This record gives sequence, structure tokens and C-alpha cells, in this order.
Amino acid sequence: MLRRTLLAATLSALVAAPAAAQTYPDRPVTLIVPYAAGGPSDVLGRLLAQSMSQTLGQTVMIENVGGAGGTTGAGRAARAAPDGYTLLIHHLALAAGATLYRNLTYDTIKDFAPIGLVNQGPFVIVSKLGIEAKTIAEFLDHVKKAGRNISFGTAGVGSGSHLCNMMLQSALGTKFNEIPYRGTGPAMNDLVSGQLDALCDQTTNSIPQIQGNRIRPYAVTATERVAQLPTLPTLHEAGLANFEVTVWHALYAPRGTPDAIIQRLNAALEVALKDPTVLARFADLGTTAYPAGRRGPAEARAQLEREVEKWRRVITEAGVAPSN
Ligand code: MLT
Repeated sequence: MLRRTLLAATLSALVAAPAAAQTYPDRPVTLIVPYAAGGPSDVLGRLLAQSMSQTLGQTVMIENVGGAGGTTGAGRAARAAPDGYTLLIHHLALAAGATLYRNLTYDTIKDFAPIGLVNQGPFVIVSKLGIEAKTIAEFLDHVKKAGRNISFGTAGVGSGSHLCNMMLQSALGTKFNEIPYRGTGPAMNDLVSGQLDALCDQTTNSIPQIQGNRIRPYAVTATERVAQLPTLPTLHEAGLANFEVTVWHALYAPRGTPDAIIQRLNAALEVALKDPTVLARFADLGTTAYPAGRRGPAEARAQLEREVEKWRRVITEAGVAPSN
């Protein structure tokens, strides 16, 4: 009932909205996750989809469109009809892709209509149980000595895990062997089975495996420790001065989606991000909702623009060449 009242209040302001916007949605909505099922972006996407389905009164269905570090799914969303029935959840990789890919099929800034920011949280450095190192100091020493004989997973060029690896290699002055996957969901399966050595992954994907003692955690990449992993130091504490990389996700629609529909979707996102069940799940997985009052469509656009510049700088300084 509260959901309907909140939505009715928002909608009444939109009485002048185009007819399509006023009946939106009148059929299921597709939310594209640009990585494989079971990974961190998928976990978040499904949590939001469940809540937004109730608020919108139509099913929000997940479609996993993995590949090319998340640019394949982004391209699919950018080309979709601007009618509110195809949405995208993406993160810092959308911004980094603008520098790391020469031939993107979309314009990172122009071709998306931001709906709102979702979450922010740290990465965690984890390894298979077979690695002997017990502390972050021992692990970093092992990584430096192993060089290309240690494998780190990625979700493709420009993905969050790849960007974290990029910063770690720069900080350690080493190069390790990177194995691309369509997401860190499948990479995690290989880490648990011991086929992959290590991963810099979002806590939302790693915490369940850490709590199940199926992988070994070493450190987090934020400037502060994570409540769910209180004994884990930050990389800064471990001696990598000022090392920080955090993930943020946002929701997007194709450019040209009517503003009335963007507002309706933002209202539904706001309901989800105020939902105690969603927030409790976020907390369990070591992430937090983006702060209220700073996560609307305009803030999401500003964040994307800021991050495009930030990652252009980081990638250029790391000397990483763009790929086709
Ligand atoms: C995923 O959902 O697989 C991740 O977001 C991938 C990544 O960026 O590392």
C-alpha cells in the first residue's frame, strides 16, 4: 500500500506526461546485466528487479548479456528502443570502457539516460585455498615472486576485477597472468575448484565463499575495513599507500527515454533502496546503498562523467593500451 501511495504521489506530478509514460509499464521490463549470471552485478540486479517488479506492478526480468568486459551488454542497451522496457545495470567499467575500447558501438556519455546510482562498496583480494600465504604481506610477496606464474581472473578488459588487477600490478610493479571470464561468477567457480589462483572481486560475490571457507581472503581495497570482514586489513594498512578502488553501480535507460519514465523508474529504485530487506542483504554482502539525496539521475550522470575522466587518467598512467 505504501509503495502505491509513494508512486501515486510521484505520478500525480506527471499528469501532463505523454500517454505512453502514463500507462508505463504495461508489460514486463528487461534489465540487462552485462556479466554472467551468479556474479556480483547479477546479484545486485536480481535484488533490485525483485523490489522494482512489486513497485512497478510488472515483472522486471534479468537478461545476462556478458562479453567484452561488459561493453557487449552496454551496446545492447544503448541500441534498445527508448521506451523504458530495456534497462541496464552497470558500474565503473562503463566509464573505463570509454578509454579501453577503440571501437565501442555507443557513446558512453551520450547514449545512456541515467536513472540513478545504486550502491558502492569495496573489492576484496582472495585466493584459492591451495595458496600457502596466510597474510596479505605473504600473499603480496608471493605474487611479486610468482610474476606470470600466478593467475588472476577478470571479467574481461575494463571490468571491475580487471581495473583492480591493473592498479594492483602498478602498485606492486609486477605483471601476473590474467584469465578472462564472462563475469566473476564463473571465475569464482574456478577459484573454489582450485583451477584459478586469485581474484580481485566485489565483496557481494566473495563474502558467501569466504564465510563458507571455500576461498582465502587477504585484504579489502577501500580506505576503511568492511564490517562483515573485520579482521581483514585494507591494502593501505598493508603498505600499499593510498591504494583505493571501489565499485559503484547505476541503472540506465537508452538515450531518449521520456523523462516521465525515468522519473517513474527512479521512484521505484528509491523504494528499493529504502527497503529494509534490500538494505539488510546489501549489508550482509559488504556493500551499501548509494547515499540518499546524492543518487538521482543528475548525480548518476555526473558520476559517470567524473569516472570517465578518472579512469582515463589511471589507465593512461598505467600505460595500458586500448583494445579494439
Ligand atoms: C560481475 O558481475 O561479474 C562483475 O561485475 C564483473 C567485474 O566487473 O569484475
